[in-house]
Amino acid sequence: MFDKKIWDEKHRESAGKYNQVTGFAKLCYANFIKRKSGRLLDLCCGKGADSIFFHNKGLKVSALDYSPEAMKQFNELQKKYSLFISALVKEISEGLPFEDDSFEFAYSRLGLHYFTDKELRKIVSEIKRVLKSEGLFMFQVKSVNDRNYGKGKELEKDMYQDETGYVRHFFSSEYVEELFKDFNIIMCEERNIDNGSSYLEVVAEKK
Ligand SMILES: C[S@@+](CC[C@H](N)C(=O)[O-])C[C@H]1O[C@@H](n2cnc3c(N)ncnc32)[C@H](O)[C@@H]1O
Repeated sequence: MFDKKIWDEKHRESAGKYNQVTGFAKLCYANFIKRKSGRLLDLCCGKGADSIFFHNKGLKVSALDYSPEAMKQFNELQKKYSLFISALVKEISEGLPFEDDSFEFAYSRLGLHYFTDKELRKIVSEIKRVLKSEGLFMFQVKSVNDRNYGKGKELEKDMYQDETGYVRHFFSSEYVEELFKDFNIIMCEERNIDNGSSYLEVVAEKK
């Protein structure tokens, strides 16, 4: 986990940007959500563009992010479009404020790679707790094949901090399998972009 002031500043500087639905949200919807209904938890939702997309597709969305600035911009978007989506300022490594078996879906785009292995294990066990049986957790993270892998100070295995303080935990498919050994892995695919960015896109089902 790293200082939320860094994220507040990033969100402030990028006001008016990153507020369009992402390709990953569309992929998840088309392949894993369409024709189903229920509740979706968006972890590290940022300005909420993907949450708004899922809401508009008929899901009941709860969104969490620890940046008050991201939530401010999310709520401004909600006001503009007369939406009512639950959006809480919350540090996700401190537990999830929901009952057991609450959600059909959990989702996180580029939200899981700020945590140590120890924190991730706690987060994954919380996600499992709040998902219903056969519920799906869909997430995208940076992969160990990303161009920035290995740059900066090594904090722990596959986790680096650059000179600006920005932290990233890069994921391998072996790590995903180990971290989600209590889930059925339905999809784990690497997406490589021309600019050298590389992502893992994962869908894991609660057993
Ligand atoms: C790369 S952005 C992704 C935002 C959004 N999911 C998207 O795809 O546009 C990462 C988000 O994670 C949030 N975040 C980082 N660490 C967090 C933590 N410990 N608890 C909750 N949110 C966190 C940041 O505030 C930021 O909004």
